[in-house]
Amino acid sequence: MGKLIVGNLKMNILTVAERDRYCESFTKELGTKALAGVEIVLCPPVIHLENFAQKLKGGKVAIGVQNVFWDDRGSFTGEVSPLMVKNFGADYVIVGHSERRRYFGESDEMFNAKMKAALKNDLNVVFCVGETLEEKKANQTSEVIAEQLGKGLAELPLMKISKIVIAYEPVWAVGSDEVPSEDEIMLAKILIRKILVAKLGAEYADKVRILYGGSVNARTVEQVCLKPGMDGVLVGRESLIPVEFLRIAEIIDKNI
Ligand code: PGA
Repeated sequence: MGKLIVGNLKMNILTVAERDRYCESFTKELGTKALAGVEIVLCPPVIHLENFAQKLKGGKVAIGVQNVFWDDRGSFTGEVSPLMVKNFGADYVIVGHSERRRYFGESDEMFNAKMKAALKNDLNVVFCVGETLEEKKANQTSEVIAEQLGKGLAELPLMKISKIVIAYEPVWAVGSDEVPSEDEIMLAKILIRKILVAKLGAEYADKVRILYGGSVNARTVEQVCLKPGMDGVLVGRESLIPVEFLRIAEIIDKNI
């Protein structure tokens, strides 16, 4: 399994002109890099999904979305379904981002339903887990992660488990320019791996990749990904600048 570099563009890229500039710059920059051992996933706002898929999807680049609903169709005003995004070019979806928990009150039970629906539609899922600053200070990191994984991954079909990727994203590191130490990330990775083995058995647990997310950039990538031996990264702000985003991908690729 190659290393995975996921870009979460969040609620940015506001105009057609801005979108076109982004795609052009991304294509140009990608053409200058070898990137033999990494897979790249770009998750634009869903309004840009079809355009991004047409322009950028292929080779080592896949397109994803930042959220989906848990049913395929029906009277769910404002929602977008996994089947829709699949049909419009998405192969990945981010589920459980801390901003979904914080601003929309989404729960692990909802994330579980979303993941089941995503897997049913053959989408790959990046499931985010991680502690808040308060939970970290109260030494609750392990139990928070265990609970999020326990509820989030309940009764998922084992045959599709290789489509699940876990992103360890400490909430306090998202958008903050603060990152955990190499040891803290290594401990989180060991904990996640242990929980996966207990839940799924070693054979299936081994198929699940574990990424790091939160203030990843070209300067932090060694500490947060390479040294702790993570399977890749989930990148927010820096994914808005193709040169910076692909620089992160290149650093990881050169160190495989
Ligand atoms: P950041 O965001 O890289 O801007 O910290 C990461 C994320 O929210 O996925």
